[in-house]
Parts: sequence; structure tokens; C-alpha cells
Amino acid sequence: MVTLGKFLSFSLYAALASCRSLTSSPAALQARNNDGDVGPLKVSIIAGPDAPGTPPDLELIAARRALKKLKTLLGEEAMRRLLADDIDAGNAAWHTILAASSPDSPDPAAHVVAEIHLTAIPDDCTQRNPVNFTASNFLAWFADDAFNRAAEKLWAGHPEHFGLQTMANNDSTMRAQLLEPWGPVLTATVVPRLAPVVPGGGVKKPYMKALPDYPFQSVGEETLLDGTNAVVGNIHYSWKDLPTKEGKTCGVEGLLNMWMSSATPDDVKEGITEHITVEYYNWVKWAYDDIKTGAFVPS
Ligand SMILES: *[C@@H]1O[C@H](CO)[C@@H](O)[C@H](O)[C@H]1NC(C)=O
Ligand SMILES: *[C@@H]1O[C@H](CO)[C@@H](O)[C@H](O)[C@H]1NC(C)=O
Repeated sequence: MVTLGKFLSFSLYAALASCRSLTSSPAALQARNNDGDVGPLKVSIIAGPDAPGTPPDLELIAARRALKKLKTLLGEEAMRRLLADDIDAGNAAWHTILAASSPDSPDPAAHVVAEIHLTAIPDDCTQRNPVNFTASNFLAWFADDAFNRAAEKLWAGHPEHFGLQTMANNDSTMRAQLLEPWGPVLTATVVPRLAPVVPGGGVKKPYMKALPDYPFQSVGEETLLDGTNAVVGNIHYSWKDLPTKEGKTCGVEGLLNMWMSSATPDDVKEGITEHITVEYYNWVKWAYDDIKTGAFVPS
């Protein structure tokens, strides 16, 4: 595996990476809290906020609020200017990865794939009128650019969406422009056509899974925005309804694959896997809430 640390030296992601390693390991966390020479510290909040949750729960809410505020005030153009050096380093990292990769191949084993498999099941599936949370309604919620939370749902879907704009093409496909870290590599891309796999729509790459039981599948090439159009990812996102015992459907199942070239390092693969997991966790929850409250009415 290629180690990216060798040629990436930008500070923001180095800082993020070191935070992650501190918080991901209890031993490291303990060492950070206690300089490593005494036992762990147990902090108990005897009196404090009305809100339930631990201080880290409250911190997460505050961190989301802070990022949303700052990102909204800054706007995407300013964010791209601020991150210009990191974007250049990310582009360089991708070209190094692509140069080290084997040529494109129909063989799935000749690729690195990030795979996220999830289900989202309403708790009222056994009731007479469960929330109408289906794969097609989730996708309609997601695609609805006119919906007044469009900016918020994309921008806030992941704290590291430094840029995320989608727009409808004139042929029922979607264009998405993204700026987000994939592990240590800040990745600035465009997906010119995220297209449903239907006649006249997107064409699956030979290495992608057939998934005959998933009626909603879409594919798209994710290409660098540096003028080279180099392909760094091949999206294959698939959704289906979940059957109930009563012969109806309730809830959705998703299989989200991001196919990358053979030399893509483990930390990049893990980074994009974590990223997609967080954003789609948020999006299925928000879509469900909006369908449940009637804020979004599927047609
Ligand atoms: C669920 O939503 C679909 C639109 O995707 C609609 O056709 C259907 O009638 C809805 N079902 C109920 C029970 O409201
Ligand atoms: C759709 O967009 C493409 C690319 O921008 C353009 O070439 C084509 O003429 C457009 N088609 C219609 C029907 O507007």
C-alpha cells in the first residue's frame, strides 16, 4: 500500500489526522488527558444543562452549529480560496495514486472499493399507516433541488463538506461539484453526470455488482476539477425498499460503492468510507423526518 504521509505535508489534515488517532484509541485518549502517568480521569456532571447527553454529545451539537455558521458566512468560494494549497496537494496526491495504479480493468479485484451497506427502518412499520419512507421517496427528497433545505441538507450533511453543489442536468441526471477530504487527501471533484441505471441512463462499469434486486441504481464518474478530468472514483449507489411480513414495504436498504484505482491507499479508502457513512446516515434521517412531518411531500 502507498503511504500518503510521504508526500502530503499540509497542516490542516495532519492536525485532523492526529486528532483522529488520539480520539480513536482509549489508551491514547487517556494519555492525552493525563500525560500518561496517572489513571483515567472520571468527570461527573453533578449539576449542569437541562439537555440530556454527555459533554461530548453537547460538543457535537455545538460543533455542528459552529461549522454551519462559519461555512454559511464564508461561502464556498472563500472556502476554496482558503483551502487552495490543500486542494493543490490533494490533486498532486491523486495523480501520484493514479500513476501508481494498474490500468483500468474489468476485474473487480483490480480496484479498491469503499462499501457502505445500510438499512433505515421506521419504528412504525407494523402500524396501519407507517411513514411513507420508500427508496423512491428518499431519492426524490435527495434530488429535489427546489426544496428549501437544499443548501442546508448538502452543506450540513457532513462537517467536512467544504463544497457541495448539485444541479439538475437537462436529461434527468445530476451534476455534483464536491470539495471534501477522503482520509488525508482533500479531493476537489465534479461528477458531471450522476445517472440512474435505466435505458438511456448511466452505464455500469464491468466490475460493478449486478445487484438485480436493487431497482434504484445510479452511477457516475468522479473527476478531478484541476483541468485533467482524471477519474478518482466511480460511484455506484443502489437502493431498494424493504419488505415487511405483511407483504408491504417499509424502510430502505442502500449499498453504496465507491470504486477507486488499485493504488488507492487504505487511509483514503477508510476516509471516504467514513465520509459516506456519516452523510448518508444524516440524509436518510432528515428525509424520514421531512416525509414524516410533511415538510417534504413526495409526488
Ligand atoms: C407513498 O408515496 C408514493 C410516492 O412515491 C405515493 O405514490 C404513494 O401513494 C404513497 N403511499 C401512501 C400510503 O401515502
Ligand atoms: C442538454 O445539455 C447538453 C450539454 O450541456 C447540450 O449539449 C444539449 O443541447 C442540451 N439539450 C437540451 C434538450 O437542452
